[in-house]
Amino acid sequence: MNLILLGAPGAGKGTQAEVIEREIGIPQISTGNILKAAVKNATPIGLKAKSFMDSGALVPDDVVIGILKERIAEPDCKNGFILDGFPRTIPQAEALEAMGVTIDKVISIEVADEKIEARLSGRRACTQCGATYHTVFNPPKTEGVCDKCGGPLVIRDDDKPETVKERLRVYKEKTAPLIDFYKGKGKLSVVIGQEEVADTSKLVLETVRA
Ligand code: AP5
Repeated sequence: MNLILLGAPGAGKGTQAEVIEREIGIPQISTGNILKAAVKNATPIGLKAKSFMDSGALVPDDVVIGILKERIAEPDCKNGFILDGFPRTIPQAEALEAMGVTIDKVISIEVADEKIEARLSGRRACTQCGATYHTVFNPPKTEGVCDKCGGPLVIRDDDKPETVKERLRVYKEKTAPLIDFYKGKGKLSVVIGQEEVADTSKLVLETVRA
């Protein structure tokens, strides 16, 4: 099964992708996490992507499409995958089609703008494996330490309030049109993001299994 999770920054795509990966057994592919690892390791792609990411802009389509194409060719994707943060533009969605990838379901997680800020200000991310936590809504067992791999948890550079504002603006301009794009193809399901992570997970898993 090939899935796409759509949603604004902080809507909970990464959090729900981790749940689907655990429950359904297909890998989460987060272009954001792949890019962050490239920045950390100062690879040529990372050096190119850094300034876009720091300012809340999108990384150019050709860079991200290349990354995605390589990643879905890996053996762990042969039974399906969850795309978290890709596609983010119509040209990226068209590139996916041109690769011959069939998408089974697109789940758009919708959360009001005013809730996004609280979510992102409390978010903590693992520097080693990219797992996501929240100081209040989804705390790790030990403060500052990843439950999954024991790595250190940090505040993301792009979670500063002014960068969050820009990411939301870019989402509305460039990514939100994908909702109609996939609705037109009969693939879209909308899940309203709930106050509790577990309540959103229940709705997301029902949609995946329907
Ligand atoms: P990326 O890492 O993908 O960032 P994003 O899309 O902005 O999404 P986030 O990771 O911020 O949010 P999320 O929806 O995953 O929410 P999360 O689950 O963490 O991309 C980073 C950058 O890379 C982009 O800005 C861009 O520059 C570049 N990039 C990546 N892909 C690209 C592409 N395809 N094309 C071009 N550029 C690209 O949840 C947020 C917080 O809320 C967490 O703390 C979580 O614990 C908490 N939370 C989650 N659910 C709930 C709930 N139900 N109730 C309460 N709290 C909750």
